[in-house]
Amino acid sequence: MVNADNKYEVQPMFIEPLFRTNLASAISEEQIEYLKNIKMVGNQVNLISEDLYIFEDPKLESIKKAVQATLDVYASSIMGIKQKLHVTQSWVLRNDPGKGMHGHSHSNSIVYGSFYFADLPKPSAKMIFHRHSGYQQLEFTYDPEKQNLYNTKINVVEPESQELVLFSSRLQHYVEENTSSLPRFSIAFNSFVRGKIGDFRDVSELIL
Ligand SMILES: [Fe+2]
Repeated sequence: MVNADNKYEVQPMFIEPLFRTNLASAISEEQIEYLKNIKMVGNQVNLISEDLYIFEDPKLESIKKAVQATLDVYASSIMGIKQKLHVTQSWVLRNDPGKGMHGHSHSNSIVYGSFYFADLPKPSAKMIFHRHSGYQQLEFTYDPEKQNLYNTKINVVEPESQELVLFSSRLQHYVEENTSSLPRFSIAFNSFVRGKIGDFRDVSELIL
């Protein structure tokens, strides 16, 4: 008979990657100042650059290259695919004091990236990920002391200055309100694959 003393094991299945790397060596002080002063316009609650393809800007070439190299590692080592991920749109975000960003995910993108190119204010305003993005027919409340990898509804990520964070674009996330007295900057971008995916004989082929 099974009882509480029986040994058991639990293994994680289908884990979500959160990829983090420091790109300080790819960005200069001049580029940081340039990005901080780039023309911004109103977004839903924060500010967004007028230019929504900032990686096309020749002044940001070194950052674009480092981001591409990182996406190459992600595609090859994490996703294990032959195709490369390419940046589609890319933009600058500024969350002034008192501003955050409500829950959202990134459509028409495979992997989304956030690069905290400038020094983050303190506290830096964390990114909160939600397990679910839609209606939940069953909603259990677990004992907070028993929160674990399997039941948690959120994951909290505290970004670091000059860090690039990559994650699946479908993940629902929001950004905490900036409670510091300084603006919080980041570059954000979407990505997609090019080439052929799927299989001709399986009639799943898709040529992009
Ligand atoms: Fe986002």
